[in-house]
Amino acid sequence: MPATPVRHPELLELRSEFPLLARSTYLNTCSLGARSERSRTSLDRVLEQWDGLGARAWYGHWLGELDGLREDLGKTIGVPAGEVALAPNVSAALAVMASALDQVHRGDAGTLERLGAAGITAGTGPRTRVVTTALDFPTIGHQWLARAPLGVELVVIPSPDGLTVPLDAFAAAIDERTALVATGHVFFTTGAVNDLNALAELCHDRGALLLIDAYQATGIVPTDVTADGVDIYVSGTLKWLLGGSGTAFCWVRPALYNALVPTTTGWFSGSRQFAFEVDALAFAADARRYELGTPSMPSAAIARGGLEVVREVGVVRMSERTRDLGDLLISLADEAGLSVRAVRDAERRGGIVAVEVAEPKPVVDALAAEGIIVDYRPGIVRCSPAFYNTEDEVRLLVERLSAYVPDSQDSL
Ligand SMILES: Cc1ncc(COP(=O)(O)O)c(C=O)c1O
Repeated sequence: MPATPVRHPELLELRSEFPLLARSTYLNTCSLGARSERSRTSLDRVLEQWDGLGARAWYGHWLGELDGLREDLGKTIGVPAGEVALAPNVSAALAVMASALDQVHRGDAGTLERLGAAGITAGTGPRTRVVTTALDFPTIGHQWLARAPLGVELVVIPSPDGLTVPLDAFAAAIDERTALVATGHVFFTTGAVNDLNALAELCHDRGALLLIDAYQATGIVPTDVTADGVDIYVSGTLKWLLGGSGTAFCWVRPALYNALVPTTTGWFSGSRQFAFEVDALAFAADARRYELGTPSMPSAAIARGGLEVVREVGVVRMSERTRDLGDLLISLADEAGLSVRAVRDAERRGGIVAVEVAEPKPVVDALAAEGIIVDYRPGIVRCSPAFYNTEDEVRLLVERLSAYVPDSQDSL
């Protein structure tokens, strides 16, 4: 058992706001956060506005709601609403950003000069490479694999321990051919946290940009994206922001707006959106320049409900309780003889604790039949207790998991 108790039991008062928690032992927030009743209230409001006003709801309410959503998202990483670009998912946000990097890959002189003005000394030649890691989410790699016909080369750094990717390995992979390093803030299978400041320094020293996929971090890892030195940050509401699918976002360091001009775009990116000019495109002065088309209002409403809970709890309390529950899970799993694949230092871990199981699917299915929801990735059962989980739920998970994993039973 960990020496320190799990902090912030007061947050358990919020459990009653999440119907899913009464119906199951839900330990899978890293896949999909539970829905709060606030999301239903806010969704109902949007549906009412739709029924009452039809298209007039856009002007009367919904454009303002979208500004509110940008503001809510910005608060999670310490930036104002104007620096947040909405996207339907992280892949779409990445596609827009990848399009803005094509000129860097080609070594376009004007683009490199504008990067220089923003403090990125990228030299004068083409930078055809994008560096990522074997532990990153596939959509990161896919963006640049899809650009292979344009001469873009993806470099994938292996993970020596299957848990983390050391800074030295990043340092060795980044050179004068590197346009971008694209990696996670928290790796999606191992929960290991990358050091953003150190990565930014490595990239910038070598004239490369840093893109962070923070889907597994936003909401539970305190982040000040400006101070962390990140250039491009993408994330979404599906998981730790408790806001369901259909809402993601992108932040770009404003000094880079002039250098990173997208070629994948849509009418929400224009400065004169409602002038309806088919023959003219002037990008918005703020981050909307990286947006595409009409956002899903039901998704936006659901997301705002979740973000309200996150704001009320605060990222620091979220982080402390999530990591304490992770510590508890690790120590109980150790005691039960399960093979844990997680970073032991809670400060370097997000909300994921993986347990090695050769064939995880039948185990996850058997747990689900008992009402215990976790998920699996190749070779692991992925567990992710969140602030709204109890210590007893974590205990139950480990007890039942050990019953289904033959090796751990032997050692009990
Ligand atoms: C680290 C990470 N990135 C991205 C995604 C999802 O990307 P998208 O919004 O494109 O589905 C996930 C999970 O679904 C994830 O864990």
